[in-house]
Amino acid sequence: MYVTDDEEIQILKSLIESQELFRFKGKNIPSQCSLFEDELSLYLGTKHSLILTSGTNALVLALQALKIGPGDEVIVPSFTFFATIAAVVQVQAIPIIANIDSSLTIDPNECERLITLKTKAIIPVHMDGLPCAMTEILTLAKKYNLAVIEDVAQAMGGEFKGQKLGTLGDYGCFSFNMDKTLSCGEGGAIVTSHAEEFKRVQLAHDTCSQFGATWRENFTPSDCFIGYSMRVSELSGGMMRAQLKKADLILKKLRTSKKLLIEKLESANIDYIKAHCPLGDCGTSLHLKFEDAKQAILFSKKMMEQEVTTIPISIRPAHAVWQWIHLLREEKFIHPKLNPFLHSDRKPKELYHQMNYLATTEYLTTTTKIPIPFKFETAQIEQLAEKIIKTRQLLN
Ligand SMILES: Cc1ncc(COP(=O)(O)O)c(C=O)c1O
Repeated sequence: MYVTDDEEIQILKSLIESQELFRFKGKNIPSQCSLFEDELSLYLGTKHSLILTSGTNALVLALQALKIGPGDEVIVPSFTFFATIAAVVQVQAIPIIANIDSSLTIDPNECERLITLKTKAIIPVHMDGLPCAMTEILTLAKKYNLAVIEDVAQAMGGEFKGQKLGTLGDYGCFSFNMDKTLSCGEGGAIVTSHAEEFKRVQLAHDTCSQFGATWRENFTPSDCFIGYSMRVSELSGGMMRAQLKKADLILKKLRTSKKLLIEKLESANIDYIKAHCPLGDCGTSLHLKFEDAKQAILFSKKMMEQEVTTIPISIRPAHAVWQWIHLLREEKFIHPKLNPFLHSDRKPKELYHQMNYLATTEYLTTTTKIPIPFKFETAQIEQLAEKIIKTRQLLN
């Protein structure tokens, strides 16, 4: 969460006072949730949006909407928050992990190498606000008839060639948890332009929505099935309406700061990760490249001494493949009969061998993330750049 002000307080106060916190109010009666969904669709340039409990559940719903399930394979990147992988497992499909490339996002060449007759979708994850190589990914998807589910949890408002991230593939999945640019504490959203599949999303997100007056007429009896409960209250809808209004202001400031930081670093010949679409990069962080892992750690240590937090990517708790791969290799599933490998001839020990991820290991251990503080003004960004340059030069 970057910014809150009186608007969030007022909207939450009036909702609590109203005691009307259920999102469904009746046919054609707007609610805070439905208004937020309309506003999100407009902001992103898509047709359908649904607010729900989390980004993980948005991914689960996208997979469910596409009828991806037991025996199917889904390509995911080796650098993502573990939730992306957990969502695939939750629908009983097999996550096939592709290395990232020097952009820190999924390597399209690796994706093509991993496609089999069982592959149904690719999940590009726009990590740390960095857009993936969407032209190549969409070309692959078309060539092999695969769906694309964009994990936009860390890249709200980001763009690729002028189009908002989350709207380039079949589905966009957002998270509104506390760490995210826009937040209501916990929450998420799924967006799509597929009208028919969106009915599956609505039904799956609230199994009882087929009985209630608000949506009942959207569905024919043949549409209906037993779904989940991922519905949120009006408090989330109202808070996200206030948050969404701040998206452009937040992104503008972050991007201006990152641009200035990059100008300074370039003038000192300091190497950093270049986004696939620099103009669409959210600007939430900048990633520095080092010759080896030792240098990346030493740099962070020296920056800590100057009270600047920089994060060697390798120590982020649940993001690098080697931090979560053992759960798949050792078949740690929630129930023995809910093991996706019961429906596949793949062998977890071969599929998830650490030696398959040497490229990722090389990229991640030699990179350090510098979060760009939203509150920093020009002078503070200049000071940050000076500290980075001096410390980096000291290590040479
Ligand atoms: C890349 C990525 N995907 C998915 C998620 C899951 O979102 P949530 O925590 O809202 O379930 C996160 C959350 O941090 C994330 O960073």
